Amino acid sequence: MPRPTIQVLPDPLAVARAAADVVARVIQRRPTAALALPTGRTPVPLYAELVERFRAGRIDFGRVRGFNLDEWVGVAPTDAGSYAAFMERYFYSGVNVPPANRFIPNGIALDLEEECQRYEAAIRAAGGIDLAILGIGNNGHIGFNEPGTPFSIRTHVAVVAEETRRANAYSFADGRVPERAITVGIATILDATEILLLATGPEKAEALARALDGPIDPAIPASALQRHPRVNVIADAAAAQLIARRD
Ligand code: F6R
Repeated sequence: MPRPTIQVLPDPLAVARAAADVVARVIQRRPTAALALPTGRTPVPLYAELVERFRAGRIDFGRVRGFNLDEWVGVAPTDAGSYAAFMERYFYSGVNVPPANRFIPNGIALDLEEECQRYEAAIRAAGGIDLAILGIGNNGHIGFNEPGTPFSIRTHVAVVAEETRRANAYSFADGRVPERAITVGIATILDATEILLLATGPEKAEALARALDGPIDPAIPASALQRHPRVNVIADAAAAQLIARRD
């Protein structure tokens, strides 16, 4: 199994530019590419860079499909704390991904189980994910696949770890973070043709090192990526400070 390529860059802006180069390369090769998309603090500079390149006429999202990795259970897309609102604010309002091509799990679906199956089927119908862009949690989670999640799992309702809920309190005005989220599963992520893992900031250093250098272990969900043949890791120096190996 080829090991992940690891690119260490000075700061989050450099990470965003290098990540945008990967996205541009994938879309150039396959204009209908299906991208798995993260939310959170890490990808904000990447989305800003992609919007800038779109405005400059350097990249076209006109046939791209976007599949968000996750959404909070019980949070309506119109709620400011939803990932649907996040995507609109940081990415979709600034680019030309057709609205019909923007997929985000529905956190207020009456039947959450059915919603998970519907979402998984939509990914399958798109021909699978071409590029899965991921952040990493301080505890090594990917999507909301928290420590202990089986690697064989597909889109499901996950119980969000306390630590993760604390880390996300900033995105809810009342600081109350939902206890559950719908997330694309680890097996669905591993089915992607290519994976791009982004990490910035010193609070990610331990999780990133354990994911890349440690044993493959559900205690660190991101370590599952060692099983994938095509992973690019782009990290800033702060996040990469504990990794033993770099390219
Ligand atoms: C969000 C997601 C999460 C985040 C992770 C890191 O869609 O899938 O796995 O990528 O929690 O979040 P930030 O970037 O806010 O540190």
